[in-house]
Amino acid sequence: MNVHLTKSQIGLDGVPAAETVLSHVDGERGELVIAGEHVADLAGKSSFEGVTARLWTGATGKALSEANVRASLGAARERAFRRLPELLPATRGLSIVDGFRAAIAPLRAENGLEHEATIVGAFPVIAGALVQRAEGGDPISPDPTLSHAADTLAMLLNRKPEPREVAALDAYFVTVCDHGMNASTFTTRVVASTQADLFAAVTAGYCALTGPLHGGAPEPVLEMLDAIGTPARIKPWVDNALERGERLMGFGHRVYRVRDPRADVLKAAIGRLAADGADLPFASEVEAYIRQALRRKNPDRPLETNVEFFTAILLDALAIPRPAFTPIFAVARAAGWTAHAREQQRTGRLIRPSSSYVGPIPGPANG
Ligand code: ACO
Repeated sequence: MNVHLTKSQIGLDGVPAAETVLSHVDGERGELVIAGEHVADLAGKSSFEGVTARLWTGATGKALSEANVRASLGAARERAFRRLPELLPATRGLSIVDGFRAAIAPLRAENGLEHEATIVGAFPVIAGALVQRAEGGDPISPDPTLSHAADTLAMLLNRKPEPREVAALDAYFVTVCDHGMNASTFTTRVVASTQADLFAAVTAGYCALTGPLHGGAPEPVLEMLDAIGTPARIKPWVDNALERGERLMGFGHRVYRVRDPRADVLKAAIGRLAADGADLPFASEVEAYIRQALRRKNPDRPLETNVEFFTAILLDALAIPRPAFTPIFAVARAAGWTAHAREQQRTGRLIRPSSSYVGPIPGPANG
């Protein structure tokens, strides 16, 4: 009784809770393998639909091709658009992040259609509708002939995206579609381990994603860059923030002890996008100084750039409104969540850890 746990035990650091064929994070070497390929290789040659096909095939054992997934996501986006009148009322008065949660919660099975596609197809339609509403407009109807990335951008921006913009968003989707046992995937698997359905599991995963220690970091990254403003202010701003004990968004990771491999994949995608909106040299200068300052502050705890730093710059360069960043992360991560939920239901076991009781110990029971 009353055994206090260490910080690592409380955070379940390094505790494996599932066997998976979906993705693997090697934090010491800075490597991420998704569906059997290094993330940098995958982002160069696979579309979001291609990697999603591999994840769903791995999770269910049923072979799917990129073309199958492209067709089923296109159809699912159309079905979701038809359901918007039923999904959107619950989002009234809510922010985009909270409205997204309210709109995905009532998603349900549709006459025997694959739940995975229903979920992943609905996400960009809902995100697009919430963004349009925030700008005073009506939802833009999806085009099932487009790729998921192209249609997502069209629904968000209310215009035909350029090929370089589609390529950048597709690279982002591939890069962040799955990432081992991160907090939202673990949450998804815990819910799926009770044999609750995919809709419940993925809604729970989204809730876990919204916190700033996980998928809620990109908006604060841009706020930080705005607050720093000029190269001359980098050092004093960062030094002051660290002195106040603040966490700098977009840096540090529970698993990576070296640079998050996704950061460089996204940095390269921003370079190819060559958008006017992305001040990559300034962001790189801020990044370099923060890495140096974090090494000085925590010499024994490597704190490197994580995926969220360049996510923020990439999504901003695509003119996606900041309040939609977390839902857009969810659009991509839904591929991983649905795969993990299926894999958990097929091969896992109820996840039910224990806790260490540190409360008062009563005397012997009277009854
Ligand atoms: N800025 C400043 N200091 C930091 C940061 C940071 N970004 N991250 C960790 N530290 C410090 C902690 O304050 C702590 O210092 P202390 O020992 O003096 O108290 C030390 O480094 C160790 O931190 P932990 O709390 O053990 O790190 P943990 O593994 O729990 O945290 C996390 C990982 C949550 C990502 C953390 O690094 C963080 O808060 N980063 C900022 C938010 C962020 O970028 N979130 C996105 C993560 S990527 C993703 O989820 C998709």
